[in-house]
Amino acid sequence: MDENKSCKHCGDCNPETTDDQWKKDFPVEWEGDHYVARREMVKFLTLGSGLLAAANWAGAGIWHWHHEGSFEARHIGSAIALQREGSMLFRYPTDNDPCIAVSMPDGQIVAYSQVCTHLSCAVVYKPKEHDLFCPCHNGAFELQAGRPTAGPPTRPLPRIVIERRGDELFATGVEVSA
Ligand code: FES
Repeated sequence: MDENKSCKHCGDCNPETTDDQWKKDFPVEWEGDHYVARREMVKFLTLGSGLLAAANWAGAGIWHWHHEGSFEARHIGSAIALQREGSMLFRYPTDNDPCIAVSMPDGQIVAYSQVCTHLSCAVVYKPKEHDLFCPCHNGAFELQAGRPTAGPPTRPLPRIVIERRGDELFATGVEVSA
């Protein structure tokens, strides 16, 4: 190899004979390398946001598919205790699904998933406001249908179907409104 034409970095290759595209993608000079790094970063960010959007969409789909419908009845506690306390936490349909039941002033019992539909923080019962409140971003849901009334949430909370058998309460299904 001609000594004068050999690469100043590795000393083995001849930069004049290498492919132009290769030079653009992996520039020998440090100044060019800076531009490639920026271009790669833009590609990475574009791909990353696309993947995040797809994962978000898929996650919502899985929730509908996985949780909507009827499940095996599960005993969640005593109706008398719920009336006394005002609200009660339980898990349904699995031990990984936190839920909250509230005793309404007219004696009706309502129950919802405790997972906020914004970014999944746990909602809590606020007796004074008579709603379910999400402390993460001040989200709020009314109790009649679980619809969002304040803050960033836009979707209602999934409703848990409750059945009263004597003094005992059972969760029997999950309803997700669109
Ligand atoms: S996570 Fe509930 S309002 Fe943001």
